Amino acid sequence: MADTARLVWLISFLHGFVMGNRISRIVQLGTCAGYSALLLGWMLRRMNAPRGLFSLDLDPAMCEMSRRWIARAGLKDFVEIAERSSLDAGSTAAARNYLGGEPALIILDSSHEYQSTLVELDLWYGALAPGGLLVLHDVSRFAAEFDVTREGGVRRAFAEWRKAHPDVETFSLNGEARSMDLPRPLYKDACGIGLIHKSELPGV
Ligand SMILES: C[S@@+](CC[C@H](N)C(=O)[O-])C[C@H]1O[C@@H](n2cnc3c(N)ncnc32)[C@H](O)[C@@H]1O
Repeated sequence: MADTARLVWLISFLHGFVMGNRISRIVQLGTCAGYSALLLGWMLRRMNAPRGLFSLDLDPAMCEMSRRWIARAGLKDFVEIAERSSLDAGSTAAARNYLGGEPALIILDSSHEYQSTLVELDLWYGALAPGGLLVLHDVSRFAAEFDVTREGGVRRAFAEWRKAHPDVETFSLNGEARSMDLPRPLYKDACGIGLIHKSELPGV
């Protein structure tokens, strides 16, 4: 299955959410070649929301490529591509500085490794604005295969994080999917998505 298809479904899911609610402070963990960064950048430009996306990746070649696309698309005022690790606590401060406030939407789509995802969840849930949403890509049984450490991937990390935070509102779509050859599920991506909604109330 082409990697791009799973990104098309993810960004389609996010499109209405971002534009319908004018979400103007977004973080993406894992930029890769810049596909979603470009599409989110176009949404931000359409909404006239400069400095709206802070997208990081630890791979210098990926950062360089996506920066070139962002410049070519005229989106430099809207998107920052940062060569940083999502596991570095300093990255949350860098994101906040660029965006001018706490991110309202965080998209987690990076290593797919169980241990790293657990660290990311703790770190970035803390950085999320009250009322904000953290979206995890690849929470399904199928996508657990993407974990090169073979420790259960995003699926296991999300399950354990949910269990440890029973008061936090969470949801998953296609979490049980085991294959891309499903008989037309409602949400087409068998990689699944997980949602974590941070309460507006302090302490939750
Ligand atoms: C699946 S791709 C991201 C695709 C992108 N979200 C999109 O929709 O266009 C995953 C990327 O995460 C990056 N990555 C992996 N671990 C990371 C980490 N700890 N910090 C930052 N980037 C990481 C990889 O270098 C890779 O480019």
